[in-house]
Amino acid sequence: MYHLQHDFPLKSNNTFGISANAKHYLTVDSPDDLIRFFKENNPGKNEKRLFLGAGSNLLFINNFDGIVIHPEIDGIHLISENPDVAVVEAGAGVVWDQFVEWCVERGFGGVENLSLIPGNVGAVPVQNIGAYGTEAESVIAEVIGINLDTLEIKSFNHSECQFGYRTSLFKVELKERFMVTSVIFHLTKQTEFQLEYGALKAEVCRLGEINLQNIRNAVISIRESKLPDPAKVGNAGSFFKNPIVSEPIATDLKKSYPDMPVYPAGEGLEKLAAGWLIEKAGWKGRSFGNAAVHDKQALVIINKGGASGKEIFELSEKIVNDVLQKFNIELEREVLVIGN
Ligand code: EPU
Repeated sequence: MYHLQHDFPLKSNNTFGISANAKHYLTVDSPDDLIRFFKENNPGKNEKRLFLGAGSNLLFINNFDGIVIHPEIDGIHLISENPDVAVVEAGAGVVWDQFVEWCVERGFGGVENLSLIPGNVGAVPVQNIGAYGTEAESVIAEVIGINLDTLEIKSFNHSECQFGYRTSLFKVELKERFMVTSVIFHLTKQTEFQLEYGALKAEVCRLGEINLQNIRNAVISIRESKLPDPAKVGNAGSFFKNPIVSEPIATDLKKSYPDMPVYPAGEGLEKLAAGWLIEKAGWKGRSFGNAAVHDKQALVIINKGGASGKEIFELSEKIVNDVLQKFNIELEREVLVIGN
């Protein structure tokens, strides 16, 4: 089935809770219905498009003058299983954390560190979500979807997806052209855990035995202590990416700021902690109108209530400018800004 609405209010479809309208809003619950809609509705083809899952990584600064497509494609299926690996397909409309819970309950490993990340499965490969030392690409075997230019169903294997830090082929080259309808994951049935990140191991040990459920619980408790719950306080998680710089730049900064966190990011490259840079630039906990920098994690911008998208964007510009002035590092937004 498909359902098309017009002048659709998006306030409850974005976790920042911003008021904005979409010219058209389409929901589909199967890949075939999406194809049928585009075949039957010629105008749909020429409109500007936005694929919208849970709206947990975007900021509307204006109304959206085009068609928002919201996949409600459901279902988690075990395709095959052997003593080492479980192959599982999940629809684009499945809530990510429900998928993680489903895997953990069955002893399928690889996604437990990504517990409680807001959003739906369809956005997971686009954004290559990551947390606590794991990136989604480590378990993604195949991404299936529809090319809206040709209306063909296509599948991309892992290496064709061009995954990078919070990016992929679908976010760059195929942006708004290829809509993900389902993702096939290869999950491990072995006890291979990724516990090296920060305080994760200590938190798991505090909870007891090292197993998938305790790792999930530990990640949830760390996230809840640092990150605001979007159901209560409007936010989109990390607002900026952690900047990746060349080694000499990181070494130079480290001379002036010996306590600055630095992580290896591939040959000759280092990743800096944007949250640390923002905090040192004096922004942690500070407000600008109805927007503010979260007081427990400076990488997160919050809507204190009634903030407009422009207000939040303006705050982010101030942060970018101040970090640039102080550290000569230009922060890049991680959230997608819509309407500029
Ligand atoms: N830090 C500060 N001040 C702050 C925030 C962080 O000094 O206000 C320091 C921390 O002390 C730590 C370092 O910066 O030394 C890194 O902080 P943290 O471990 O909290 O993680 P992050 O790099 O700020 C990234 C992801 C998060 C993910 C966490 C945990 C990005 C853009 N963000 O944040 O992802 O949950 O690691 O793995 O890569 C998201 O993408 O929406 C998101 C929340």
